Amino acid sequence: MTAVAADWGGGYVTDIAYLPGYYRHQSPLHLNLACLLGGVAGVDIGPDTALSYIELGCGQGFGALMLAACNPHWRVCGVDFNPAHIAASRALAAEAGIANAQFLEADLAIIADSPVWQALPDADVVTLHGLWSWVGDRARAGIVRLLGDKLRPGGIAYVSYNALPGWQGAIGMQRLLLEAGARAGGRSDRQVAAGWELVRALAAANAPHLQGSGFVQSLTRHAEHAPPAYLAHEYLNASWRPCFHADVVEALAAAKLDWVASAQLLENFTSLMLDEAARAAAAGYDDPVMRELIKDLFLTRVLREDVFVRGARRLGNAERDAALAEAMLALSCAEAQFAWEVEVPAGQATFGRDFFGPIVAALAQAPRRVGDLLALPNLPRRDNPGELVGMLVGSHQALPVVGPPAAPDDRVRRLNRAAAKRFVRPGNLDIGMALAASGTGAPLPCAMLDLFIADRLLADPAPDPALWARELGAAQPASEQDRLRAFIDRAVSERAPIWRRLGVLPSAAPAS
Ligand SMILES: C[S@@+](CC[C@H](N)C(=O)[O-])C[C@H]1O[C@@H](n2cnc3c(N)ncnc32)[C@H](O)[C@@H]1O
Repeated sequence: MTAVAADWGGGYVTDIAYLPGYYRHQSPLHLNLACLLGGVAGVDIGPDTALSYIELGCGQGFGALMLAACNPHWRVCGVDFNPAHIAASRALAAEAGIANAQFLEADLAIIADSPVWQALPDADVVTLHGLWSWVGDRARAGIVRLLGDKLRPGGIAYVSYNALPGWQGAIGMQRLLLEAGARAGGRSDRQVAAGWELVRALAAANAPHLQGSGFVQSLTRHAEHAPPAYLAHEYLNASWRPCFHADVVEALAAAKLDWVASAQLLENFTSLMLDEAARAAAAGYDDPVMRELIKDLFLTRVLREDVFVRGARRLGNAERDAALAEAMLALSCAEAQFAWEVEVPAGQATFGRDFFGPIVAALAQAPRRVGDLLALPNLPRRDNPGELVGMLVGSHQALPVVGPPAAPDDRVRRLNRAAAKRFVRPGNLDIGMALAASGTGAPLPCAMLDLFIADRLLADPAPDPALWARELGAAQPASEQDRLRAFIDRAVSERAPIWRRLGVLPSAAPAS
């Protein structure tokens, strides 16, 4: 029997579901900080704000549901054209009892002319991750129309895409995967496997566009362990096209969007990205598009994560610092694990102990307002909320939160448990997921294996790492079970206390 390819996808992979995943930069709290670092007003988000959030190309809805569970006052809406994704999203929402998230099935290429358009709310924040450069012109035009009509004035859009020139060395590789896969036929995961076989064979035969590129080699190594569904959605889309920042900015200008910052917060600090000569070249231009182009020629970034505002309101320094001082941060690692140096393209960024030491110690106790952190005794300076926020959040060691943590409520517990039941599999324990939390408004990024461990701790607070490793690694050799056991031990001793501190697990019962 010959497989009949569905034709509703417009060249996008539709025969296998995409993986669940959580991307911290899609959180509106995070995007608000990015706007402030870019010197532009974001969206005010307090504990009771009825924020309206839309995610386009939401896949299985995991990220949207995490945000909905953590923020019961928000209205969350996920859109995707794959009915299998929408069904999975709705089923998970129902199982977790989350009523403030809706999932709409619609093709972005024609959404404005479909009945779904009326159901789509106006939004304060719209995000699209892994969509823009993976779809064709008609879908991109639909996205621009949607942003122009549904994103409120002053609202924030997050748009990630494969970037040029970072991707230029691997364009031939993607085309080869696509063409070889189509000729192999069958389901997309098999097609992509056939494509990689040819990429490897031609690289071994010294094809210069495969063998000579360090980027292609790193993608090839990654593909050896990456889940087939990821590889198919990443490489087999007929309209996939990496883009220059300038072209995305121009396309989104039609929706009156202004580029304001990178969602990778450290990228907004030129001194951390570029050496002196490159900085001097960039400083010759007032125009941010030109400065970003220069940055893109120096950095190897292959995925850009751009933040736009629909009608940017520029802030003076004092106004910007006052807004940053109101932000509240939570430490998302253990104090003992805090990295005091991080690698950046311009070398090493160091967290000076005299400034950051007291701040990290205070955050290890509880989330704090940035203004309160800068008022701690004995700090050498107090005038740099942008550096404080950019470094702590940009290095992924702190998260913006909307309020203090609370004991995990029923929705948060149910979502974490239901997601663990649905998604944890022995082969996918490294995937980036998140844990829902109460009070903070901020899902806590984690690995799939952490979701399993948190689920077990919610079921029975007395940990049994040996038993859990045996259960999870039942079909695997003893050495793999030992490895799992060591990982679980570490999670229980190092990360479970953070989960208790940030509203994922109940705090430890007081000693009687
Ligand atoms: C690479 S996945 C990214 C999913 C999710 N945002 C993530 O990053 O995990 C792209 C998603 O966009 C959806 N998609 C692709 N073309 C679309 C279109 N024309 N209209 C609506 N959704 C589309 C796909 O079904 C898929 O779920």
